[in-house]
Amino acid sequence: MNLEPYVRNIIDFPKKGISYKDITPLLLNPEAMRMAVKLFMQNLPHTNIDKVVGIESRGFFFATLLAEKLNAGFIPVRKPGKLPHRTHTETYDLEYGSDTLEIHEDAIKKGERILLHDDVLATGGTAAAACKLIEKCGGEIVQCNFLVELEFLNGIEKISDYNVSSLIKYS
Ligand code: PRP
Ligand code: MG
Repeated sequence: MNLEPYVRNIIDFPKKGISYKDITPLLLNPEAMRMAVKLFMQNLPHTNIDKVVGIESRGFFFATLLAEKLNAGFIPVRKPGKLPHRTHTETYDLEYGSDTLEIHEDAIKKGERILLHDDVLATGGTAAAACKLIEKCGGEIVQCNFLVELEFLNGIEKISDYNVSSLIKYS
């Protein structure tokens, strides 16, 4: 089953010149979602994972499914001011603009094995910031995985220290 037809290309959203990869058609189709989870699982170097980190907002969808499948905890990395307890903070550049991400300081115990998930790897700023947050907490990143990678933006260079896996690549 090819997942690519379930990702919709929206031209000039949210700004002119941006080609937005809309994964909502994939989320509408249970068979496609199951296939995505199966492929994510197959592409892991091992399944000995303590926690799955998902990046707000679109990273949450599959991160929770993967956490359940891996019998691991789920950790939300959120936009500023959303997490109620003490946080670590990282500011990062986005494909369009800049933003900040936060994680609860006590979400990860030192040495825990972490899978980071997001829907799209574009410039890599978001994923790199999330990796820094995980490491500030003492986590060891097993893999960073994405539904979609925009290879032409070279985001992978920002997370070159880690194992990276993407299901659908646009070159
Ligand atoms: C999008 C996407 C990734 C990020 C990738 O999120 O979901 O998280 O951008 O961009 P980068 O690799 O250039 O950093 P966005 O910040 O638009 O927010 P959302 O997930 O809440 O829609
Ligand atoms: Mg996002």
